Amino acid sequence: MKITAQQLRTKYQEFFKSKGHTIIPSASLVPENDPSALFVNSGMFPLVPYLLGQEHPGGARLANVQKCIRTGDIEEVGDNTHLTFFEMLGNWSLGDYFKEDAIKWSFEFLTSKEWLNLPVERLAITCFGGDSDAPRDDESAKIWMSLGVPQHRISFLPKEKNWWIAGNSGPCGPDTEMHYWIDDGSPAPKTYDVDEPRWVEIWNDVFMQYEKKADGSLVPLEKQNVDTGMGLDRVLAILNGQKSVYDTELFKGMWEVLALDQEILSNDEIRKARIVLDHIRAAVFMAGDGVEPSNKDRGYVLRRVLRRALVMGRLLNLKHHWLDALIGQVAATYASAYPDLVARSENIFAVILAEQKRFEATLEKGLKQFEARIQNTESGMLTGKDAFDLYQTYGFPWELTHELAAQAGSTIEKSEFESEFKKHQELSRTASSGQFKGGLASHSDKIVRLHTATHLMNAALRKVLGEEVWQKGSNITEERTRFDFTHNKKMTPEEIAEVELLVNTWIARDLKVKKEILSLEEARKLNAIGVFGEKYSDTVSVYTISDNKTGEIISREFCGGPHVERTGIIGTFKIQKEEASSAGVRRIKACIV
Ligand code: SER
Repeated sequence: MKITAQQLRTKYQEFFKSKGHTIIPSASLVPENDPSALFVNSGMFPLVPYLLGQEHPGGARLANVQKCIRTGDIEEVGDNTHLTFFEMLGNWSLGDYFKEDAIKWSFEFLTSKEWLNLPVERLAITCFGGDSDAPRDDESAKIWMSLGVPQHRISFLPKEKNWWIAGNSGPCGPDTEMHYWIDDGSPAPKTYDVDEPRWVEIWNDVFMQYEKKADGSLVPLEKQNVDTGMGLDRVLAILNGQKSVYDTELFKGMWEVLALDQEILSNDEIRKARIVLDHIRAAVFMAGDGVEPSNKDRGYVLRRVLRRALVMGRLLNLKHHWLDALIGQVAATYASAYPDLVARSENIFAVILAEQKRFEATLEKGLKQFEARIQNTESGMLTGKDAFDLYQTYGFPWELTHELAAQAGSTIEKSEFESEFKKHQELSRTASSGQFKGGLASHSDKIVRLHTATHLMNAALRKVLGEEVWQKGSNITEERTRFDFTHNKKMTPEEIAEVELLVNTWIARDLKVKKEILSLEEARKLNAIGVFGEKYSDTVSVYTISDNKTGEIISREFCGGPHVERTGIIGTFKIQKEEASSAGVRRIKACIV
């Protein structure tokens, strides 16, 4: 079936309208009042309050096409299926229908002649295999079989694969995924294989039965919900017989702008070109929703994708002004589906081109420096320190130096670069004057103890006031810790006393404080909270305060440290003041006596 992106969006919406769903608009990519992720990463994300029980004005059956950003798979972008920005087609039941209807409708939409008409012979299904939290999902498997999916095409997989949660906590549950065999040259194998890239996941039906609390416990939800998500780009490619999402009409105009002959490009060049297309498309959508490049949070993600695209563009020798043309092309491609992009295009151009200017000025100088360094080494090998100097002085991202070195037949150890980075961080902390900027300015004993006390206070506030409490900022001096957090009313004297008591109890229990370096993904899985620190890489340090005897986790935060090794040496914790800081944000000053 040949189909355009707009036809697919419309078909999906019509189908679910015919099943009694209200079509709701896509939310902004920037989450509203939800600090648990930097970007909306799925159709369900803006719907979390409703999945937790709040009534939705559109009723109990909803469907939409939602803009999403996912950076977790950024290393895979450029293969046939991974993207940073994508649109997700989704339908939801808020306490209304459950497994039976959700699966029946997914099957009907995918396979019926009237809708997508995909052959059942090319479908494979995965279901949740069960663990100590929840049982194996035999019910879903039975429904699939009743619709005509053969048993051998249904596999049961563990939580890492067939369970969905948007962030660290919130509504979640088992899911059942639909995979499509994309190879036209050979028939689909009898069974699904998770490591086989020709099986492409196209749709995911999640059965949200639980709420995961910050302490990791699962609590059954009062109402059972359905949350489904289907990747528009992937399905579009499949329906049009294309091997890769980068071959669809959504990227066609953009390829033309790059003016590269795909026939003669190497695989590596194709990957680079795809990264350019993906990252610029994502950057245009981010800027369209008001994100500006900066060194933290969302702004950092935008800066990172833009700079990476610029680097790739340079390595591909793209012609002059390719970026301007590409921005215009993204807006044109999406003009009818997202008219705001066109309306805001002046601003989008300004934001992206200003970042290009900033980056390119240093890029030139840095390239000269790179040449000079590589000429000067006897071995022809650059060190981690060289890479760090280039980063430090010229803003060279690791990828660029790595890539340039590879082209020159040299290699650099990433771990060396990272350890230089860490050394530098420590030094700048010690040198700066008593300020707490995402790291400690001084490692005095008192500050270290207050730092760990601040983590305990954060955990206690979330326990006493609820998990909506989120750190907004913190500053520690020898005398006190100052902590800003989201909360919209004054704390009562009882609440203050309760927080103090909790922190002092944890101190008295002499809990162990452990530091681990984890990948962002692992840290997320462990429900670490807090402000991201070392954003230059995908690894983060996480501090966990726990009771070894009971296994209870009291606090787990992203943090550069340092901290005390056991809470027993902190001293007695005292809240001195609780006051408003700004709208919806409270400020506590506390000390150790
Ligand atoms: N939330 C699920 C996903 O993103 C289904 O929408 O896969």
